[in-house]
Amino acid sequence: MTQWSLESELCNISGESGLLPSLFSLGFLTAADQLIDVRVEKDWYRSGAESYLLKFVVETSRGLSTAILKAYTPSNLHGDLNARFCEITNRRIFLANNGILTPRLFAARKGVWIEEWLEKSITESLQEINGNEILGKRMAIELRNIAAVLDMNGFLARSIYEDLRVKNDLPYMIDFGEDLGAMSVSADPRYNQNRLLEWLKIDYPVLHALCNDVPAQVISYGRSNPL
Ligand SMILES: Nc1ncnc2c1ncn2[C@@H]1O[C@H](COP(=O)(O)OP(=O)(O)O)[C@@H](O)[C@H]1O
Ligand SMILES: [Mg+2]
Repeated sequence: MTQWSLESELCNISGESGLLPSLFSLGFLTAADQLIDVRVEKDWYRSGAESYLLKFVVETSRGLSTAILKAYTPSNLHGDLNARFCEITNRRIFLANNGILTPRLFAARKGVWIEEWLEKSITESLQEINGNEILGKRMAIELRNIAAVLDMNGFLARSIYEDLRVKNDLPYMIDFGEDLGAMSVSADPRYNQNRLLEWLKIDYPVLHALCNDVPAQVISYGRSNPL
């Protein structure tokens, strides 16, 4: 059996042979770039009930890209693993097409997503922007929009807010598995918006008030399909 390496995994997922063609085909490199290094920054670890992560860096003449291999490894699986993986990937693409920010997806194949690593957690970000009115208002609108898009499409998310990551002071959704759940027909048109307000109420009262005050006409239900 050949030994596992990051290079072999990138080749396996891209279907290419060799590191350079894999990085080109996955979108880490363009013809204008020179590859300087590819290195594992954090080896495989269990990151949640449904995932293992490996964090790596691609360094080129253009700069650094930090990304992860996210292996779909549910501890509780009912049904076919590949079918569930496709379902979760499709949910992610659907929500991204409906205006929810998601990390850049380099590949989704063979039970592994390769995606952009987003350094900042939502809790770090909310603590940072606490008291900054402009950033607070922008964050409030974006959070309400995430919840509104989920409401519009009948999701009954269990817990997605704690898992949000932040880039350029904007929230990105990263978990599309069990914590989000399947699209359904919801009897409560504000289910996710109410859960969001409950989540903010205790620890982030300023943001809670801002979120509560977002005028209905500002809630776009997704940028690609504004009201
Ligand atoms: N793109 C990412 N950038 C930064 N951290 C991430 C990213 N994806 C996942 N993580 C980290 O891994 C954890 C688990 O990922 P998640 O997608 O929520 O999987 P699970 O379904 O196992 O909960 C997250 O809470 C977060 O800490
Ligand atoms: Mg999670």
